[in-house]
Amino acid sequence: MTSLPLREELRGIEPYGAPQLDVPVQLNVNENPYPPSEAVAADVARAVAEVTGTLNRYPDREFTALREDLARYLGHGVTPEQVWAANGSNEVMLQLLQAFGGPGRTAVSFAPTYSMYPEYARDTVTAWVTGHREDDFSLDLDHARAVVAEHRPTVVLLPSPNNPTGTALPLATVTALCEAAAGVGGVVVVDEAYGEFRRAGTPSALEVLPDNPNLVVTRTMSKAFAMAGVRLGYLAASREITDAVRVVRLPYHLSAVTQAVARVALRHADELLARVDDLRAERDRTVEWLRGQGLDVAESDANYVLFGRFADRHAVWQGLLDRGVLIRETGPDGWLRVSVGTPDEMAAFEKALTEVLS
Ligand SMILES: Cc1ncc(COP(=O)(O)O)c(C=O)c1O
Repeated sequence: MTSLPLREELRGIEPYGAPQLDVPVQLNVNENPYPPSEAVAADVARAVAEVTGTLNRYPDREFTALREDLARYLGHGVTPEQVWAANGSNEVMLQLLQAFGGPGRTAVSFAPTYSMYPEYARDTVTAWVTGHREDDFSLDLDHARAVVAEHRPTVVLLPSPNNPTGTALPLATVTALCEAAAGVGGVVVVDEAYGEFRRAGTPSALEVLPDNPNLVVTRTMSKAFAMAGVRLGYLAASREITDAVRVVRLPYHLSAVTQAVARVALRHADELLARVDDLRAERDRTVEWLRGQGLDVAESDANYVLFGRFADRHAVWQGLLDRGVLIRETGPDGWLRVSVGTPDEMAAFEKALTEVLS
């Protein structure tokens, strides 16, 4: 059939996604390299077995118990009514644009930024505008304010730490942009998918949540919690924002199994998050090693490192892949991004990169 009534802007577009290749060292989608321990796996199995007996019924639409657990985990005085969750923070972000974007409205971010945002904008028929980041990937506040004043976005998307650069935002920038967005009737989403990996002294936007009624902070269990396979993302915001998102969610969007497994993960937060310190140390070591090779390396508060710059980055990416190491060809021209893996995986990456560059 040649004349499907597909939306014009979707014609010829391939589904987006990083290559899922079966190679020994996979350092391309910022996953946590450490699988759940046997104790966590056994607890997950028990929780799923328990819920199996009720699978004839729809799950708790409001996932009350999970929201309570998430609020407790976040702290900062966040209440369960201020928390919302969905199938990955991808879905949380889509719901935010369904509620606050839409035809005739604009979402703004600052490039380089997370590559999925323009897709959420397209899918919700929201206009998409990007300002820029500075050469060191920080955000110039005057520029950011000017973009907000000019385009009057209803949604400002700020990943912090930023993907793909790893750059975190100072709280003063978050607060100033909340003020600027409030002036044009917009909300600010600080996407803290990698929040738990930030370096000592780097704050979370949760600290300024009580002072900014138009601020949304999103998180995920995909990264620090090592639960990417569960698909559980969540947000904290004012009750008004959370209630608005509840209007656009699909009924029973969070399965009983997802809710049960996420609760187990939160019960084991201490153990699951213990690896975060190892990964932060491995990240800092990787940054130093790359700099030692004479490469440009972006400061990182995340579990990945952006490095370059290469005249032919694809050749470097391919050279690594030929040696069994998959990283990500993303970010500004000339740069590559490597996720932080286990010490063995990073040793394989360093050996392969040394060979490729020699
Ligand atoms: C900045 C950022 N936000 C959100 C996500 C979505 O993560 P998930 O849908 O697994 O929660 C990612 C995933 O890589 C990300 O890099």
